[in-house]
Amino acid sequence: MRVIALANQKGGCGKTTTATNLAAALARLDKRVLLIDNDPQGHATLAFGFRERDFSLSTYDLYLTSDILIEDAFLEVQPGFHLVPAGVELSAVEQALAREAGKDVRLRNNLRRSEMEYDYVLIDCPPSVSLLTFNALLACSEVIIPVDPSSYGLQAVRKMRETLTLLREKKGHDIVPHILMSDFDTRPRFVRSLMEELIEIYDGDLLETIVHHTVRFKEAAGNGVPVVAYDPDSRGALDFRNLAMELCEQEVEVSVAALDHWVAMLHGPQVSTAGVRFEVDFPRAKTVRITGSFCDWSAKGLPLEKRRDGIWECHLALESGSHAYRFVVDGAWLPDPHNSNTQPNEFGGANSLVVVS
Ligand SMILES: Nc1ncnc2c1ncn2[C@@H]1O[C@H](COP(=O)(O)OP(=O)(O)OP(=O)(O)O)[C@@H](O)[C@H]1O
Ligand SMILES: [Mg+2]
Repeated sequence: MRVIALANQKGGCGKTTTATNLAAALARLDKRVLLIDNDPQGHATLAFGFRERDFSLSTYDLYLTSDILIEDAFLEVQPGFHLVPAGVELSAVEQALAREAGKDVRLRNNLRRSEMEYDYVLIDCPPSVSLLTFNALLACSEVIIPVDPSSYGLQAVRKMRETLTLLREKKGHDIVPHILMSDFDTRPRFVRSLMEELIEIYDGDLLETIVHHTVRFKEAAGNGVPVVAYDPDSRGALDFRNLAMELCEQEVEVSVAALDHWVAMLHGPQVSTAGVRFEVDFPRAKTVRITGSFCDWSAKGLPLEKRRDGIWECHLALESGSHAYRFVVDGAWLPDPHNSNTQPNEFGGANSLVVVS
């Protein structure tokens, strides 16, 4: 599953147009798609013709309670393409969670608890670096930053890159950026020089597809359908089909490498001078224990405790050296899903390894 946020604090640069049309184009490639409207303006919801009277649960509920999951809150746009809608109530999240711990990982934890299986989850963000945007960024492993051809476009991309650096340094959360030239009419000289500048500064992160300026996007949104359905032969539809294919072609590269990396950073064994901290994400398990070379592989092992966010954790004071271990999850012996360091065991499986220096 690839989780991609559409973010840029600059307003009106094409986040919602990209989120909605890309989601629809991916669905047409038979991908299972979830679009989360994470903006109190609710434009992504309106873009599919839904009004507030059409839903009682929304993105707001995913933030506020762990009892409501995506499977309870989505609206079906078409089979295999779901939307969690939003409305103005989402603007109350910041205040409602003001004193709550872990308020910036609410969306991520909710996504992890869900048993829905999607190929792509797209999250449309509001035009601000707010709690809503931080939640989307901490839930995703990739971000599409649409940049429109205005004089503040480049400055906004720079600001977004700073935000991503901050998340890497403070939270150990790595996000792969994709910069998208959006709403581009490539004829004026000013636009061409902006393109050259973007290529020079952000070459490796720049998506090849350009979304051109066309009035079809406004017409399609006004009719409550994406442009690929409204006018499948239009330039706009072609651009989003190309963008969807460009992303699909990157699939293996990004989803495996980047996701494994950040999941390991967040939940793999964390070695410190005080010992090793194990964290593992088995939200539906009833008991989780750890066993390994440090306790002679006793079947009973040592217990992990479940946190409120569904993550199990324990801290062990392990001696220097290499320690093989497995988790015992409701009786089943499993390697650590967040640790890629393993060694084969005598039963034809793999044990996880942690090295304390
Ligand atoms: N390629 C395009 N061609 C023509 N118009 C476009 C294009 N992309 C976006 N627009 C128009 O620009 C306006 C802003 O686009 P959009 O709502 O996607 O931006 P946004 O970044 O989501 O805005 P906000 O920051 O308010 O959430 C909309 O009216 C949309 O129809
Ligand atoms: Mg928007």
